[in-house]
Parts: sequence; C-alpha cells; structure tokens
Amino acid sequence: METTKLSVYPRLNPRGISKDISVADLIDRTFLAYNSGRLREAAQLLTQKMLPDDGFVGLSLTGALTPAGLGKSCLIPLMKAGFIDWIVSTGANLYHDLHYGLNMKLYAGSPFIDDVALHRDGVIRIYDILFDYNVLLDTDAFVREVIRGPEFQRPMGTDEFHYHLGRYVHERGRALRLKNNSVLATAYECGIPIFVSSPGDSSIGMNVAAMALRDSRLIFDVNRDVNQTAAIVYEAKSTGHKSSVFILGGGSPKNFMLQTEPQIQEVMGIQEKGHDYFLQCTDARPDSGGLSGATPAEAVSWGKVDPDTLPDCVVAYVDSTVALPLLTAYCLSRVKPRKLKRLYDRRDEILDTVRSIYLKTGTVSKVLTGRKIAKRATAVGMSKTLDRDR
Ligand SMILES: NC(=O)c1ccc[n+]([C@@H]2O[C@H](COP(=O)([O-])OP(=O)(O)OC[C@H]3O[C@@H](n4cnc5c(N)ncnc54)[C@H](O)[C@@H]3O)[C@@H](O)[C@H]2O)c1
Repeated sequence: METTKLSVYPRLNPRGISKDISVADLIDRTFLAYNSGRLREAAQLLTQKMLPDDGFVGLSLTGALTPAGLGKSCLIPLMKAGFIDWIVSTGANLYHDLHYGLNMKLYAGSPFIDDVALHRDGVIRIYDILFDYNVLLDTDAFVREVIRGPEFQRPMGTDEFHYHLGRYVHERGRALRLKNNSVLATAYECGIPIFVSSPGDSSIGMNVAAMALRDSRLIFDVNRDVNQTAAIVYEAKSTGHKSSVFILGGGSPKNFMLQTEPQIQEVMGIQEKGHDYFLQCTDARPDSGGLSGATPAEAVSWGKVDPDTLPDCVVAYVDSTVALPLLTAYCLSRVKPRKLKRLYDRRDEILDTVRSIYLKTGTVSKVLTGRKIAKRATAVGMSKTLDRDR
C-alpha cells in the first residue's frame, strides 16, 4: 500500500561521497533535500530545460557579485560558453567589474575590521572585501574619460552604452595583456546585451550625471531598454524558442527582466503566455510582499511566467556566492558550449519586428486581448527527476 502511494517519488538513499567525486555528481547524488534539493533542481532545470534547443537565457544580477570575483570565476565562463544570451544587472556589478577589467586590486579581508580605522587609512570595505579608495577614484576617472568619446554624445539604450564601454575595457585589457578579466569586455566580445534597470543608481550613473553638468550629451534611453528587452523575449517566443530567466538575488533587475512579458501581452496587446522557465537564487522572503522574494507562482498571475511550465520553476534560498560557482561547474560539465546568439548585433532588427507587430495589434485605449488558459496541473515538485540510487 505504502509503496504505491510513494512510488512516484525518488527514494532517498545516497551512497557515501568518494574522494574523486565531481561537482556535478556531488550535486546530483548528495543535494537531496531542502535548499540543496532546490539547488540540484536548479542545476537540472538549467541543463535539461533552459539550455537545450538554443533556448534564450536571460540573467539578472543583483548583490555585490563582481566585487567578490564571480564575474571572472563564473559569469565570463558562462558567457563564453554561450549559456547567457542577455543580462539585466545593477550598475554596481558593472562598476565593480571595471576594477577587474582595469587590473586594479581587491583583497580578501574580514567583516570584523574597525571601519573608522579603514576610513582613516583610505580603505573601502564591502563586507569582507577590501580595496584602496584610489580604486574608486581611478575607476571614476576612467568612466569620465571614456564617455567623452564621440560615440557617447547622444541618447542611447544602456545595452548600447555598455557595448561601447565594454570596447574600451576590452582594448585596455589587451594593452595590459589581460584575458577574460571583465564581464563588460566579454559582453562586447560576445555580442551579449547588458541592460541596467536603474542607470542612475551606481557610480557609473553618478559619473555620467556629473559629465552632463559639463558638455556631455549622453542620456540613457530607458524607453528603448524597456522595448528592447521585450523585443528579445518576443524574438525567442516567436521563433519557437524557450525563454528562461535566471535570477541572482532580486531587486529591480529581477522585475525588469520579468516585466518583458506583461509589456508584450498587457501593454502591447500581443498574445503570449509568459517566460517558460524561472530560476532564482535568493535570500529574499516571499511573505513581505516585495518583488525580490515573489515566487514564480505569483509571477504566473501577472503573466510573467507561463502557467503550464510553473511546475518546473525553482527558487533556491542559497547565497549566490555559493550557488553560482556550483551551477557554473555543473553546466560546464554537463552541457556542450552553445553557439553565441550575438543578440546585440541584431538589436535594431529585433526591435523592428516587435514594433511592426505592436503597431498592428496595439491600441492606445484599453487592450482587449484574452489570456490563454493553463493546460497543465500545477503540482510543484512532481515533475522533478532525482538521480536514483546511482
Ligand atoms: N558603487 C556603486 O556603484 C554601488 C555600490 C553598491 C550598491 N549600488 C546600488 O545599490 C543597489 C542595490 O544593491 P545590491 O545589488 O547590492 O542589492 P540589494 O541589497 O538591493 O539586494 C537585491 C536583492 O538580492 C538579494 N541578494 C543580495 N545579495 C545576495 C546574495 N549574495 N545571494 C542571494 N541573494 C542576494 C537581496 O536579498 C535582495 O532581495 C543597486 O542598484 C546598486 O547599483 C551601487
């Protein structure tokens, strides 16, 4: 009787860990329950559903990840392997990426150092990371000098801004004989668009603003960003590809990536069903009502996530600095590199496609499209596979 009731579930019966076990096998065989179980599901979702068949993968980045070296250790290998097609980041992650791209030095310190003494000595602290105040001053000067270039003297989307900035970082890296040091330079090389949802909210935005007090004509075109990100998702869905969101942390980049679907359906009036797969690593709780902790189920109600694929969505309550290296190693060992989509190179064409559909279907008055009805039961957890007794 009991066997029948429980036979749909994989049995928990792990073998002991051996000294030569790989990261991917460790995750498959021993991450069995609670948040390790969710992290295994996340790894399997990425490798078995999000990456196959050239699915579009958007990455949203919050938390102080690049200062901790995760740009170099994880994001750049994932981008080069063709596993990340587009990015929405905080400005801070790109600002701190510049330190690595310009070969500045950050140090592993401690969270328990006297901050008054650090301030006196001109040392900056991000939790247990330390660096000289000059790192900020030199990075600020780099941004100000670069954006004096003629290509920056007009309004532009943040993807275009980061592409041009990335070219300068790439050139500086070559002069310094650096390789694979910067997310911005790698995005430039690989044609991966990077958007920032709050472009004024970082030291990059602060320097752009200061230069506007001089003679700079650089203005961030946030409307272009909203439409361009929606156009990327529409490009995926209208060409028969899956659209996946891989969310590290939460914050404004999480919404900016997810709102692409309501932009297509609710605002542009185009029939669509939501992102296919949702994967989030976060410490944010859902019960406070904030967007950072909002679950994929809640996102379904907004049209952000397809109700039919909800059972496959995963939230792992794991610090990104632990989750990302594990997920990176898992993906690189389980999936062959994919051809780069170079979505940046196609930005005008992709936007033109969605614009022409919108101008046919969209209205100024109330949008009257109905929603497609979910086909699948939403029993979260039932469709997950577990590496049984290997
Ligand atoms: N010098 C700068 O440019 C600078 C520096 C710091 C922050 N900022 C700005 O402040 C804003 C907020 O900063 P933030 O990105 O640090 O995020 P945040 O503290 O607002 O966190 C965003 C979300 O991610 C989650 N989160 C953060 N770190 C995590 C981790 N390690 N693992 C899992 N979840 C995590 C949080 O719980 C939260 O839900 C950003 O917009 C940023 O640009 C700028």
